[in-house]
Amino acid sequence: MQTILVLNGPNLNMLGVREPGVYGSDTLAEIEARLITQAKTLGVELHFFQSNHEGALLDEIHAAFGRHVGILINPGALTHTSIALRDGLAAVGLPAVEVHLSNIHKREPFRHVSLTAPVMIGQISGFGPLSYELGLLALCRHLKA
Ligand code: DQA
Repeated sequence: MQTILVLNGPNLNMLGVREPGVYGSDTLAEIEARLITQAKTLGVELHFFQSNHEGALLDEIHAAFGRHVGILINPGALTHTSIALRDGLAAVGLPAVEVHLSNIHKREPFRHVSLTAPVMIGQISGFGPLSYELGLLALCRHLKA
């Protein structure tokens, strides 16, 4: 079965505890559990990885080449800062969708810029945990098209 890499960047391991007014009360494990259920209906398998370290995320992106068919990613704050992540995603060339729990365009100006979005198929932002499910659906539709 085809596999999709689901990547989460810095501080997303703290979901459930972290600023619930902004990010909601679901934990990352709860979000991942719902994605597993959804993946069964979509006929794909998911491989999950979260790290607070840019280099570890980059290693996982490189390892995805030839192994996974696409990437669903919430880069967290690295969205706004990491040319390295953007270049890594461009280097492997896998179809990728960027998701954010919060609407980054409605928040502080420094969150309005995504350095990673230009190497994505698209970005889904502002739907809470549903952003991940919408992102997975969009990625799978793209892969089947
Ligand atoms: C986030 C938005 C980022 O600006 C922030 O740094 C995060 C989470 C989101 O999912 O809304 O860590 O990616």
